[in-house]
Amino acid sequence: MSSYDVIIIGSGPGGYVCAIRCAQLGLKTACVEGRETLGGTCLNVGCIPSKALLHATEMLHESETNFAKMGLNVAKPKVDWAAMKGYKQDTIDANTKGIEFLFKKNKVDWLKGWGTITAPGKVKVGDEVHEAKHIVIATGSEPSSLPGVEVDEKVVVTSTGALELPKIPKKMVVIGAGVIGLELGSVYNRLGTEVTVVEFLDVITPGMDGEIQKTFQRTLKKQGMKFVMGAAVQKVDATKTKAKVTYQLRKDESTHELEADTVLVATGRRPYTEGLGLEGVGVQVSDRGVVGSDGHGKTNVDGIWVIGDATDGPMLAHKAEDEGMAVAERIAGQAGHVNYDVIPGVIYTHPEVANVGLTEEALKEAGRDYKVGKFSFMGNGRAKANFAADGFVKILADKSTDRILGAHIIGPMAGDLIHEICVAMEFGAAAEDLARTCHAHPTYSEAVREAALACGDGPIHA
Ligand code: FAD
Ligand code: NAI
Repeated sequence: MSSYDVIIIGSGPGGYVCAIRCAQLGLKTACVEGRETLGGTCLNVGCIPSKALLHATEMLHESETNFAKMGLNVAKPKVDWAAMKGYKQDTIDANTKGIEFLFKKNKVDWLKGWGTITAPGKVKVGDEVHEAKHIVIATGSEPSSLPGVEVDEKVVVTSTGALELPKIPKKMVVIGAGVIGLELGSVYNRLGTEVTVVEFLDVITPGMDGEIQKTFQRTLKKQGMKFVMGAAVQKVDATKTKAKVTYQLRKDESTHELEADTVLVATGRRPYTEGLGLEGVGVQVSDRGVVGSDGHGKTNVDGIWVIGDATDGPMLAHKAEDEGMAVAERIAGQAGHVNYDVIPGVIYTHPEVANVGLTEEALKEAGRDYKVGKFSFMGNGRAKANFAADGFVKILADKSTDRILGAHIIGPMAGDLIHEICVAMEFGAAAEDLARTCHAHPTYSEAVREAALACGDGPIHA
């Protein structure tokens, strides 16, 4: 029996980051992982492979729409789907091997196999039981399906199957206009698939700022994606090669059907905590499998912690990473902390969509006095030169103190631009602080400064 200070179950962005931080803090650490490779959902079947396909297809789209405008006359690119999937796999391999290297460098033991907590301080992997002063649950999440919908990962797929389709479908129905549906829907739309998104609500990406939702949906429609809104999917009938999706419109309860070669079910994910032995050791778990905590990663059982998708909060890799670091620091007796008010969200479509903090709807609901500073990328020289002037930056600030409360961006590099505002919010900055900071010209980030100026006396280029 081997003995550790900390055993982490799961090597996704929560687990591997927690393991490395524990080791850096001088704790003897092991990480249990049942997959063949480290890195969890994110590196194997999530963030990394989806971004590789988004990048490749965005290059395709760029070459088809903008090259000729810049005097670049090239033959229309031919898509080699097998090679594109090969590039995606190489990207996954480079990243998962990178974690293996980091584990060796930091002397983190990888315990290969599926772990079960048999008692507080005891984790069974295969036939061996390992001891640890602290156990961290970092087992992540899995796709959740719908009643009446059977996933076969061939014709009716989750994101995992959608990243590995043997050929590019002619018609795809995406159930759910959330992050996965719109990112992977965009990939196939750019590859020439006729993509129809069926969404239960009347808006896409629920929870996002309303103005962004509208602009985002309009932009995706212009790119060729179709939407059926306010529609509850009732069932999917599939054969070996085709599927029929039946949905009911909420407004008049009429029933309709859509045919497709592939149906992507993207209606959310649920924590992957079954079979871990949590009930046996008395760890509180909700009906949906969410492991409860004190809000700082500590479960109700001493010495058992939880991070990432397995617990409450947004299911995002960087949220899992931050929790991993904070829990490692708490285990080591330090004051680990995650600021849940400043966790950015990014959708890696074209254009990108990014947000942090409160939406205008949330501010209205809370009865807060706020002001809005908006700036369109039409007024940004760099964006105009790069055919990327669709979209805007919107900053929400407290009306009397000018403190930044939230920001929402749709436009080029939105996922990178948002971080300037995250840092400002961490420091409790006012919009004027951003507005008075010199921004290099010509950069997309000038649009952020202009939106901050719009919270005061007004932008210059609008
Ligand atoms: P996971 O990454 O799910 O890792 C958990 C690991 O634990 C898995 O490898 C699993 O095999 C292992 N495990 C589970 N149980 C056991 C056990 N009993 N024993 C041993 N090992 C076990 N988030 C972003 O922030 N940005 C993105 O761009 C993004 N894109 C995404 C795209 C897709 C298609 C998907 C599906 C998700 C995406 N996400 C993205 C979400 C992101 O992947 C998750 O939020 C993140 O991976 C959660 O990290 P985690 O460490 O909690 O768990
Ligand atoms: P989601 O929660 O983002 O979206 C699910 C959508 O499905 C919602 O719009 C919901 O209203 C809709 N829906 C639910 N039931 C339905 C029904 N019966 N018929 C029609 N529509 C229905 O979930 P998604 O896209 O599966 O993503 C899961 C998680 O993965 C998210 O929490 C997200 O944070 C994470 N993720 C993050 C990414 C990023 O950060 N870029 C990329 C991909 C995933």
